[in-house]
Amino acid sequence: MTTKYVNAVISEANNDGSLPVLEGALGPSAVDIQSLYSRHGLLAFDPGFRSTASCKSAITFVDGDKGILLYRGYPIEELAEHSDFIEVAYLLMNGELPTVLQRAQLDLAIGSHNLLHEQVLSFYRGFRRDAHPMAVMVGVVGALSAFYHDVMNIRDANDRYTAAIRLIAKMPMLAAASYTYSIGRPMRYPNNKVDYPSNFLQMMFGSPVQEYVVDPVLARALDVIFTLHADHEQNASTSTVRLAASSGANPFACIAAGIASLWGPAHGGANEAVLKMLMEIDSVENIAKAIARAKDKNDSFRLMGFGHRIYKNFDPRSRVIQTQAKKVLAHLGKDDPLLDIAMRLEEIALKDEYFIERKLYPNVDFYSGILLRAMGFPMNMFTAVFAVARTAGWVSHWLELQGESHGIDRPRQLYVGPTLRHYSKNK
Ligand code: CMC
Repeated sequence: MTTKYVNAVISEANNDGSLPVLEGALGPSAVDIQSLYSRHGLLAFDPGFRSTASCKSAITFVDGDKGILLYRGYPIEELAEHSDFIEVAYLLMNGELPTVLQRAQLDLAIGSHNLLHEQVLSFYRGFRRDAHPMAVMVGVVGALSAFYHDVMNIRDANDRYTAAIRLIAKMPMLAAASYTYSIGRPMRYPNNKVDYPSNFLQMMFGSPVQEYVVDPVLARALDVIFTLHADHEQNASTSTVRLAASSGANPFACIAAGIASLWGPAHGGANEAVLKMLMEIDSVENIAKAIARAKDKNDSFRLMGFGHRIYKNFDPRSRVIQTQAKKVLAHLGKDDPLLDIAMRLEEIALKDEYFIERKLYPNVDFYSGILLRAMGFPMNMFTAVFAVARTAGWVSHWLELQGESHGIDRPRQLYVGPTLRHYSKNK
């Protein structure tokens, strides 16, 4: 199978002072303003990047109006149903699905890079036991740059690919160790006899004194969560990784920067915030009060897991997650009252004029917390699970960026501070 990549083309002549328009393969065209300052002495002002394409990318496409998400052209729903996370990671990094041989080679490479250097484990002991796992992840992933710096040449494509594989391979142990440390249980090593999601489960929940038997339904659900969260084009954390990488920084340090950005409640931290909100709502009777608060402009409360910068329609990932949550709860014979609250909340919000007018729909995080909770993940690990998955996207964008040469990312600003004044001591 071949994939067509349509190169961006300049569709308008540029000799009359007008700015060229670039056509991508899908999605809105972009005015090329690179010469705006040199030719017109003007800067473009777009805080929050609502109308700015910061780069060209061939990895992921989102059509927020139609609720479409494609990884390298493949719809997310098809990948979630028929593929698995490691295959998706290969697709994101390389542009094509792997052959049987390429897949076997990738599994082998992950199996040979999934251990952490023993000295890395001692970093964990420097953290308070009650440290948030994301705080630990930011620190320890950044610290890995000290282990893989002089031995790696980011100008070398093979070294870059090895760095990307190392990151994907080590992330489950890094995340699981931040949890086992917090509860005082011995850290567990990966086991190459089981697949990637099963390995994460056994490192999270296994104990040295008892054999951990992986539940295939839970392993599959985790794999789907990983696949759905693997990439989402130029979101805040991916843009952070790209910005850090544009200076030629060490990839482990760049990914640590991405983890920091992901942590916020407006981004990957939303899955934890949704669950806290549902617990606070507590019963279906209190939903109306929560909706009224979300609409009140004098109240900072927002419906967590609702709304998206790009999606002005259903987030296609939220439907898949909701189905998985129901499946896992049924399989475990559990009944989570929070799922009932979430479903009723969604139903009421989607009929409310405020949410209709602003096109606020449930996003991927609305149901992911309920699913992770059913699987036994503590709330403060939800965003760490997201970070494990998003590493595939981060490294793919890092690889893509290293293959280009547009120099360091350096935004400009609209200066609104004092004009020139001269120094005199304050009396
Ligand atoms: N609850 C109530 N009102 C909302 C919400 C919400 N969740 N989201 C947006 N609005 C309102 C907002 O107050 C504004 O109203 P108005 O036009 O009257 O001032 C309007 O909708 C547009 O909002 P915005 O803040 O300009 O939208 P944004 O694109 O800057 O923010 C968002 C997107 C995801 C940060 C925001 O919708 C939000 O805070 N949602 C809750 C947090 C959340 O679920 N985040 C996860 C995003 S998906 C996973 C990921 O990307 O990591």
